[in-house]
Amino acid sequence: MTPGRHADQPPTAGNRGGSVPFMLPGPPPMRETLAGWQQWRATRDSFASAPRLDRAAWRALSPRRRMLYDLHRAATHANLPLQQTPMSQAVARVLRGRIESNALKHKPSTRAGVMITGGGYQGKTETACEVAADFEDAWLDLHRHLNPDALPGTRDLHAPVAYAQTPVTAKPKSTCKAILGFYGADTKNMDLPGLVRQVAASISDHGTKALLLDDITRLRMHRADDQDVLDLIRAFMSMHVTLVLIGVDIYDTPAQITAWTRHLAGIEQQLRLMDAAPGMLTGGTMPEYLYRRTSGVVGLLERLIEDGCREAIDTGAERLTQALLDSVVLSLPDASSRDAGAGEIPDLPPGPARPGGKDASKRKRRRNTVFDDHGSASGTGT
Ligand SMILES: Nc1ncnc2c1ncn2[C@@H]1O[C@H](COP(=O)(O)OP(=O)(O)O)[C@@H](O)[C@H]1O
Ligand SMILES: [Mg+2]
Repeated sequence: MTPGRHADQPPTAGNRGGSVPFMLPGPPPMRETLAGWQQWRATRDSFASAPRLDRAAWRALSPRRRMLYDLHRAATHANLPLQQTPMSQAVARVLRGRIESNALKHKPSTRAGVMITGGGYQGKTETACEVAADFEDAWLDLHRHLNPDALPGTRDLHAPVAYAQTPVTAKPKSTCKAILGFYGADTKNMDLPGLVRQVAASISDHGTKALLLDDITRLRMHRADDQDVLDLIRAFMSMHVTLVLIGVDIYDTPAQITAWTRHLAGIEQQLRLMDAAPGMLTGGTMPEYLYRRTSGVVGLLERLIEDGCREAIDTGAERLTQALLDSVVLSLPDASSRDAGAGEIPDLPPGPARPGGKDASKRKRRRNTVFDDHGSASGTGT
């Protein structure tokens, strides 16, 4: 998302009749290119949530301000910030430490890489990108402190972090091309050794300290070119860069979901529903309910909450209850860019029981009918 910068704007409510208090997101930056990565890094924290209003304050707004406020709330619920999860904290600690100490190393020895593994929608991509972007912020800052005149005229060439997504049905050549695509380097008519050399040159020319290869599990290891893949990874590892491999179950770790309630409490703080009582997500049987609906997968929770908030605003309920969430059919965002065969799409947990589909008539609108009324898991994973 590319939310507009508006930190200097007064809050929505008090500013009647003024300018539009927040901007709608533009096209999401494509992190797979240097320019897109930089744009995402620079704007990732710039979204300001809607202020909290109670019903009386909301009613006091003009119809136009009300409409804008509701739009701002919808944008808030669609741009929920990342919460700290046990996984994200563990990943952040290891990843940041590794990238940083490798970046400070002068010895020509091979840098130890990092593998991030887990199921689909568990937050691997967002967590890794966030940590890498944080590192880059700090690294650029440090650079300016150490030598403000470093690399005059070539600032745009400095890319401390490179991010590439492994293409579906990847081979070593297309993987190299994805990396070179980040740098905008030419890849025409090159054989594999040429491409690998070009990757090494791009990494070195741009001062890249961390190379993130996302969805690496698309690069299957059961083809005739196994050896090529291993050679490729080895070659990347010798390029004096911290190689960060992100994939689904690269090796097995039991996905322990702890601190679920803390995660819910964090999200609850972000919601802008006018009849929300404290403990709306964390009290009673709500944590279990939400866990059952999402299997504890943060990406599915995010989806359920966003759609639930929309329903709560549309119906005037202005709070989330299990009955209301029962009417929300879970669907997956951006699933088309994911490789189900590589395990990037989790099984959708069975929806709430709906005897005879009676509740269906209560539903105002449906986001997606594909998974409706089956009453059982309809996952697309392997
Ligand atoms: N720590 C988190 N807190 C809240 N939402 C998260 C968190 N991590 C990921 N998400 C959301 O979950 C969704 C899936 O995350 P993503 O990083 O794409 O998962 P993966 O790469 O593991 O498939 C994204 O929409 C993201 O915003
Ligand atoms: Mg991912």
